[in-house]
Amino acid sequence: MKERLMNLKEEALKSLEAAGDLAALDGIRVAFLGKKGALTEILRGMGKLSAEERPIVGEIANRVREEITEALNAKKDRLAAAESEARLACEKLDVTAPSGVISLGGRHPIALVQEQIENIFISMGFTVEDGPEVETDYYNFEALNTPADHPARDVQDTFYITDKVLLRTQTSPVQARTMEKTKPPIRMICPGRVYRSDAVDATHSPMFHQIEGLVVDRNITMGDLKGTLDLFAQKMFGEQTKTRFRPHHFPFTEPSAEVDVSCFVCGGKGCSLCKGEGWIEILGAGMVHPNVLRAGGIDPEEYSGFAFGMGVERIVMTRFGIRDMRYLYENDVRFLRQFS
Ligand code: PHE
Repeated sequence: MKERLMNLKEEALKSLEAAGDLAALDGIRVAFLGKKGALTEILRGMGKLSAEERPIVGEIANRVREEITEALNAKKDRLAAAESEARLACEKLDVTAPSGVISLGGRHPIALVQEQIENIFISMGFTVEDGPEVETDYYNFEALNTPADHPARDVQDTFYITDKVLLRTQTSPVQARTMEKTKPPIRMICPGRVYRSDAVDATHSPMFHQIEGLVVDRNITMGDLKGTLDLFAQKMFGEQTKTRFRPHHFPFTEPSAEVDVSCFVCGGKGCSLCKGEGWIEILGAGMVHPNVLRAGGIDPEEYSGFAFGMGVERIVMTRFGIRDMRYLYENDVRFLRQFS
């Protein structure tokens, strides 16, 4: 029996040595010292011993239990310390470590160019106005001297919501709204989204951006329009830039013109950007029609004005050499990253 007790001790100490964690340790305790464990099992045989042998074996058994318990506790302390050290090590925070790369988003090219155009006109004393994208027929057409049978009102071009409500096809309705609420002198621009029922292709989109401009005061002339747009073109496309006015027709301006700028790549000689023309069309403009002034509550005998409107996408595309408008709306980060 003595031998069995000694073997038991050896075996227990060996298992303790090998135990890797606190759970394994608990398993060992149950296996050797538990109520149904190996030691209890051996001590069941005590009854068969003589009266002299019993206390001796009893003492040995107690010592074995004590030694195993002691070894168990010592191992438990060591394991607990190691575990807490490991936890601390992986929770450690190095506040001096350099931070990872934080990648920032960039402005969209349309927003970049829009802001640049706004800043040029703000520097000339223009205010920036806003207007609704869901507009009435009155402001989009009627107040802009666009009679009911004008081709621009064709359902082909305009998204109608009801008979009288539509998605604005141009930023010009903001001219009419501004004249209604402001007395001259007026110097304003209005950037915003406009909508036309066009199929998507490399140069068309049912939604695009325009920037409108309006100046109303006493003695405003075509010379003021030309001077303003010349200065704008120089600031936008470079000091050498010239403008060219071609006669055109808009219902809300008289006279009207389409305005080109000399190609900022070839300087007017002709290249692939300007398609050999030497000029790039960027906006429509003209002197505000007396009917439009009247609709805005302004006396055309006393005041005159000029207006212009430009497509932002077109300027973005020529500026950055973007051949297909769809890139501007697909939000492919490989494209957008080039502008940040
Ligand atoms: N609204 C016109 C367009 O969308 C542009 C324009 C604005 C022309 C103001 C003249 C004056 O084509």
